[in-house]
Amino acid sequence: APIDRIRNFSIIAHIDHGKSTLADRLIQRTGGLTDREMSEQVLDNMDIERERGITIKAQTVRLNYTAKNGESYVLNLMDTPGHVDFAYEVSRSLAACEGALLVVDAAQGVEAQTLANVYQSIEHDHEIVPVINKIDLPAAEPEKVKAEIEDIIGLPADDAVLASAKTGIGIDEILEAIVHRIPPPKGDPNAPLKAMLVDSWYDPYLGVVILVRVIDGALKKGQQVKFMQAGTIHLIDRVGCFRPKIETLDALGPGEIGFITAQIKEVSQTAVGDTITDAKRPTAAPLPGFKEAQPVVFCGLFPVDANDFEKLRESMYKLRLNDASFSFEMETSAALGFGFRCGFLGLLHLEIIQERLSREYDLDLITTAPSVVYNIFMNDGSMKELHNPADMPDPVHIDRIEEPWIDATIYVPDEYLGSILKLCQDRRGIQKNLTYVAGRAQLTYELPLNEVVFDFYDRLKSISRGYASFDYQQIGHREGDLVKMTILVNSENVDALAMIVHRSQAEARGRHMCERMKDLIPRHLFKIPIQAAIGGRVIARETIAALRKDVTAKCYGGDISRKKKLLEKQKEGKKRMREYGSVQIPQEAFIAALRMG
Ligand code: GTP
Repeated sequence: APIDRIRNFSIIAHIDHGKSTLADRLIQRTGGLTDREMSEQVLDNMDIERERGITIKAQTVRLNYTAKNGESYVLNLMDTPGHVDFAYEVSRSLAACEGALLVVDAAQGVEAQTLANVYQSIEHDHEIVPVINKIDLPAAEPEKVKAEIEDIIGLPADDAVLASAKTGIGIDEILEAIVHRIPPPKGDPNAPLKAMLVDSWYDPYLGVVILVRVIDGALKKGQQVKFMQAGTIHLIDRVGCFRPKIETLDALGPGEIGFITAQIKEVSQTAVGDTITDAKRPTAAPLPGFKEAQPVVFCGLFPVDANDFEKLRESMYKLRLNDASFSFEMETSAALGFGFRCGFLGLLHLEIIQERLSREYDLDLITTAPSVVYNIFMNDGSMKELHNPADMPDPVHIDRIEEPWIDATIYVPDEYLGSILKLCQDRRGIQKNLTYVAGRAQLTYELPLNEVVFDFYDRLKSISRGYASFDYQQIGHREGDLVKMTILVNSENVDALAMIVHRSQAEARGRHMCERMKDLIPRHLFKIPIQAAIGGRVIARETIAALRKDVTAKCYGGDISRKKKLLEKQKEGKKRMREYGSVQIPQEAFIAALRMG
């Protein structure tokens, strides 16, 4: 298509405000899908994504649209991942577009997550078209939402499109707005090839599929290209686009978005943000803003059944085929045996991987306490990154420890403000700002990331009955009075439960862990002390009393089948236990003990 007939845009929306429904509706209106195919949401193509209602992998769709002025346009709709953990992927997707639809639920209004993405979009010089969705809802308040868009975001909302992705109201107006308000891309067809690697994923039939945005020049089948950051050379064997079905093309020109394949086996060879150029006639400089994927949260994953170790390794390799930001290396724990130390982009990413391992690969896993990356400055002047509390050096050799901090933005209705302030305060937060907009409080806090990785988000949601929204950005490391707390069960150090905590919180956290463990570990034939300690000093202690009676005793001896059932149940339970010295700890204890409640 001629470059002035191309429009590249993304959709910015808070979770559940209707991004996928709108995308599907635009595809349907422009003829990409039949009504029957529409019955399934097409852009969210992974099960877990659909169940959790989040988008993990970006997808893009090319639409043909004949506008009211009679001209034909090519619209590329770029879907962006919807969670803070995937902020860099979002930024690359946005960099591939000239504009965005800002979708806001007419009944819910503007949310914190929307804000972060809007600001990014503005930073990319996007033309933003506000769309107020779900106007069919009885609770819709489009005028109030318009005012919010103007007051909170600072965007003019006079010509916001009122729409219902569900009923189809406003869809034509949205398409016209895309054509007339979003500018066409710029690019030089005669310059050397310069394209951005926007995303990549593994497809069982095609191998690694790479989503690209061409800036200058053209991408063609049979072309030798160079990935400038990776330093690799590949032969392009397929060029195409999604409508959303795959369509092969001869070439992609400047301003166009599409995909290529090049017989690449693993997504780890394709870094998001890399610059693709012609191997023989390279562009002078790579695109700015390239960043390597950096895991921020680490935890150990161990098979409950030691025999599953190889299966776990294979499953992890398979997962990584499609997710270069998930990293793992082998780890041994005195108590848990062989497992893996894994790195994730954030807690949600961790949960997704954990869930896929247990669901798709049928693995029973023990997850150790999630940990952030600490910078340990030693007395000899050297610095170590600490990913695993178990590797903490002897404190006598440590000069200071620095921990990562975040800048958090929280939106919360007035009535829950008090409890949210307390939560942030309890988590060592430093309040930066508190403003009221449209009946809601906007709070900004600086918080240590290690106070957030456990259960902050869950707590926030439960305290506010789901009304609070939360978004964060990392702001670097700061010194903290941090110590390693160990948990001893029957005098055995349970390394998987060791954690780095702030000294001021060690006692409370230790007491809580001991109480939790007391409830979670079944009684044994002997007394079991549970202790929390810093170095050699015990800071909390609980005792599980010894078991006196035979459990089967309460079956009155008579009912054999019931007795059998009980014994079977016990056996089943045993499978999910780990043995620590002579004590058995149920799998749930490892995760449950970490929830601060
Ligand atoms: P993520 O994929 O999680 O980012 O969510 P999303 O923003 O894509 O939202 P999605 O399209 O999945 O819509 C969320 C819910 O709102 C679904 O139950 C939709 O059916 C519903 N919905 C979307 N648009 C409308 C609308 O215009 N009116 C009404 N009443 N419901 C809508």
